[in-house]
Amino acid sequence: MGEYRSVNYKAELVGVLGDPVAENPTGVMQEAAFRAVGLNWRYLTIQVKPEDLEDAIRGVRAFGMRGINLTIPHKVAVMQYLDEIAPDAQMIGAVNTVRRVGDHLIGENTDGKGFLRGLQVDAGFDPTGKRVVILGAGGAARAVSTELVLAGAAELIIVNRTPLRGEQMVADLRHRTGGTVSLLPWTGTYVVPPDVDLLVNATSIGLYPDVDAMPDVDLSQARADLLVSDVVFNPPETRLLHAARERGLRTLDGLSMLVYQGVIAFELWTGRDAPEQVMKDALKEALGVA
Ligand SMILES: NC(=O)c1ccc[n+]([C@@H]2O[C@H](COP(=O)([O-])OP(=O)(O)OC[C@H]3O[C@@H](n4cnc5c(N)ncnc54)[C@H](OP(=O)(O)O)[C@@H]3O)[C@@H](O)[C@H]2O)c1
Repeated sequence: MGEYRSVNYKAELVGVLGDPVAENPTGVMQEAAFRAVGLNWRYLTIQVKPEDLEDAIRGVRAFGMRGINLTIPHKVAVMQYLDEIAPDAQMIGAVNTVRRVGDHLIGENTDGKGFLRGLQVDAGFDPTGKRVVILGAGGAARAVSTELVLAGAAELIIVNRTPLRGEQMVADLRHRTGGTVSLLPWTGTYVVPPDVDLLVNATSIGLYPDVDAMPDVDLSQARADLLVSDVVFNPPETRLLHAARERGLRTLDGLSMLVYQGVIAFELWTGRDAPEQVMKDALKEALGVA
């Protein structure tokens, strides 16, 4: 007669919906984190076409999934299928993380918060009262800009190639956050002035395979303690960060934002502290960086 043993083979499910999604490395770091803290959770990387998103969210509900990440092209479209949107995700106008509370699906945005946490933890930079230049006016730029205003940055200057997109982002930011935000059209080389404390490349310039591309900026007038950061994480050392380092400027790479958006999602889903170092190491290994 064997002893009675209580078993539970049912894993808790989270994951990411995107299209394309196969090269998304978030699952590697989340699964490493679940193993490290002994949670029987699984992170599924699922390709979902735009026209199937509504059904996919029904699936999230039907499977009782604990949460989900959204990536291109679902971050805006998903909002209509959720029960609640967190205030900062509402301000950003996009959701990259959903958590389930009871039978409610709540939309969050951890991209900008992840950037902010990396800024503080990895670069020791406090945005309070600082003047910031953001290159770009897409989803990443909106998330980063919103959280910087909420964190107390004094002034944001958005530099964007397409004027209309830039104008819309600046109008939304001013209206939703009440922050001091202005727009500079990006024509020719943008010379970073000496009164700027933080420069963020929030465009996709330099993203693999276009690794030789660099935002058209001139760092020669920048102050000596300017922090230059990049949301592009593949490769982690973009040409912009390389150029900044060569000038002796401080830098913060896109891996930092990627790790911390995952750390914050882990915390939202599990209610536990995330094993940050485990997640960083897993991500670096997955991306083949030492
Ligand atoms: N590290 C992380 O955790 C993280 C998280 C989210 C996103 N990202 C990265 O962030 C980057 C941007 O993503 P997104 O979702 O914001 O993309 P998006 O919504 O498509 O926006 C892209 C932005 O880049 C600008 N841009 C692209 N090519 C340009 C060029 N040659 N010259 C000038 N401007 C150019 C676009 O300007 P126009 O308006 O003129 O087209 C637009 O403002 C991607 O590389 C993505 O991988 C990283």
